[in-house]
Amino acid sequence: MKLSTKHLLGIKDLTKEDIQLILSTAINFKEVLQRPVKKVPSLRDVTIVNLFYENSTRTRISFELAEKRLSADTINFTVSGSSAAKGETLLDTVNNILSMKVDMVVMRHNASGAPHFLAKHIPAAIVNAGDGINEHPTQALLDAYSMQEKFGNIEGLKVAIIGDILHSRVALSNIYLLQKMGAEVIVCGPPTLIPTYITEALGVKVEYNIKKALQWCDVANVLRIQLERQNQPLFSSLREYNLAFGINKKLLDSLHKEIVIMHPGPINRGVELDSDVADGPYSIILNQVENGVAVRMAVLYLLANREQ
Ligand code: CP
Repeated sequence: MKLSTKHLLGIKDLTKEDIQLILSTAINFKEVLQRPVKKVPSLRDVTIVNLFYENSTRTRISFELAEKRLSADTINFTVSGSSAAKGETLLDTVNNILSMKVDMVVMRHNASGAPHFLAKHIPAAIVNAGDGINEHPTQALLDAYSMQEKFGNIEGLKVAIIGDILHSRVALSNIYLLQKMGAEVIVCGPPTLIPTYITEALGVKVEYNIKKALQWCDVANVLRIQLERQNQPLFSSLREYNLAFGINKKLLDSLHKEIVIMHPGPINRGVELDSDVADGPYSIILNQVENGVAVRMAVLYLLANREQ
């Protein structure tokens, strides 16, 4: 089976079958990662550039590890120390890198739509590693993989996405994916952090009461408050945000039910999640990070092997 797309620009462009193919391929790669020798020759002779115009810990390391586990050659680009800092355009930078016989581009950029722009101008396959406030497709895929691993199936699951929905590419990619896979999804957070697009165009329900949202869901996917993307205050203070929407052990204990806590990272400890929850028995946050490598191996493998 092959993916229906040449690039992975967003979950919006994928079919349900594409998502199922990536998740089932990732199961095989997760098995590879449990072996003493965690490496396969699948992408030998393929060269991949990791082009990061925005900070990252998990995604950048996860892609690089995935590439190395597939035996690809990898090169890493960050803005600091590059000629982008001297004003070189994105397209010039990428065309120069591709002229050195690079086959695929993994790209994070602070501008929404940057990978879509690039896809119109270069021949290489592009994987979006997060573009502005638009999409973070591999995060949604690894989140889906982690839910499927925990529950056996995504269809019918009740998922609450909680926090800064307005600035979150993780929220949008998760909503697209969960709706395509037949899960029920709601969002929860302050009204100023929930865009009307989510409710009006995508038909996602909103719950403003954190306890009711947690009572309803099987999975709480908790998002970081992205202060760096806020030009003006959208709620009174982090302390008040924590009082209204923060999740702590006392709140979870009051529910008298099992729940799965997810977070894409990085966590603002003491704001959206207290440490007794982030590090507690309901948290699968580090499983998500572990699964990210297998999921990204699957994405790179399928894109590299797709018939052109
Ligand atoms: N989840 C995520 O994208 O984390 P990084 O910003 O560290 O890559």
